Amino acid sequence: MSPPTPWYRSDDGAFALYHGDALDLLPALKERGAVRAIFADPPYFLSNDGVTCQSGKMVSVNKGDWDRLTTVDDMHAFNATWLTECRRVLDADGTIWVSGTRHVIYSIGFAMQQLGFKLLNDVVWEKPNPPPNLSCRYFTHSTETLLWAATSAKSKYTFNYATMRRMNAEKQMKSVWTMTAPAASEKTLGRHPTQKPLALLERILLSCTDVGDLVLDPFNGSGTTGIAAVRLGRRYVGIDRELEYLDLTKRRFLASQAEQPLFAVAQ
Ligand SMILES: C[S@@+](CC[C@H](N)C(=O)[O-])C[C@H]1O[C@@H](n2cnc3c(N)ncnc32)[C@H](O)[C@@H]1O
Repeated sequence: MSPPTPWYRSDDGAFALYHGDALDLLPALKERGAVRAIFADPPYFLSNDGVTCQSGKMVSVNKGDWDRLTTVDDMHAFNATWLTECRRVLDADGTIWVSGTRHVIYSIGFAMQQLGFKLLNDVVWEKPNPPPNLSCRYFTHSTETLLWAATSAKSKYTFNYATMRRMNAEKQMKSVWTMTAPAASEKTLGRHPTQKPLALLERILLSCTDVGDLVLDPFNGSGTTGIAAVRLGRRYVGIDRELEYLDLTKRRFLASQAEQPLFAVAQ
C-alpha cells in the first residue's frame, strides 16, 4: 500500500492534513509506529433529529452525516476498528486519549480493554456553564469523559508529572478538569459543531508528549489538536473526511504561525 498524499503539508513538514476516511488512511500512513500521542474525538452518533439549547436558542442536534446514529453493534464495531488502527500507528510507548459522552465512551473503553490497551485514567472535563436541559427530564449534561490509555501494560509511556503539578499550584493534578467551552476568540476563523477548547488539548499534550513528538488526530474537526500541537512545538498529522473542516484547520494553522510559540514557557 503506497502512503497517501497529504491534502496540506506545512513547508517544514511538521503539520500535515489528510482528506479522507480515517479507516482507509490510518493503515497506509508512513508515520505508522512513530506517533507518540493520539487525541481522538470520534463521532458521538448524536444526530437523531432531536433539539438542544445553544446560546439560549433551541437548535437541532444534527451535526452532519458523519454523526448519524447507527445500531449499538455497528457503533462498537466502528470503534473497535479505528482503535485497532490507532494502536498500530502508535509508538509502543505512546498513549491515546479519546473524548466522549455516555453515548460512546463505554463502547470505547470496552473496545480498548478488548484490544489490550492499558487504561491509565478516566479524566472528567467539567463545563462550568453548560447549556440548560430543555426537556427537564435529566440532570443538566455538564461533563465529557476523556479516556487515557497506553498501548499495553508493558508501555513506558510519558507522564510529565512535574509539569502537571506546576500547572496546578504545586499540587498533584486531579482527574476532574474544569474548563469552559471554546471562547468566541477560538472561533473567529469558522465554526465546527463540536470544537474542543485549546486549553484542554494543550493540557493533554503537555501531560504525555515532549517537544518534537508526533501527535495524530484521526477525527481532526476544526484542528484543535493540531493547533495545540504546533503551539507547543510538537509535530502533527490530522485526518478528516470533510473538506470544509480541513479548510478551517488550515486557516487556523496559518493564523497560529503569526503567534509566539508557547513551548518555550510551558515546559
Ligand atoms: C467530534 S468531531 C471532532 C472535533 C474536533 N475535536 C475539534 O476540536 O474541532 C469529529 C470529526 O470527525 C470527522 N469524521 C467522522 N467520521 C470520520 C471518519 N470515518 N474518518 C475521518 N473523519 C471522520 C467529522 O467530519 C468531524 O469533523
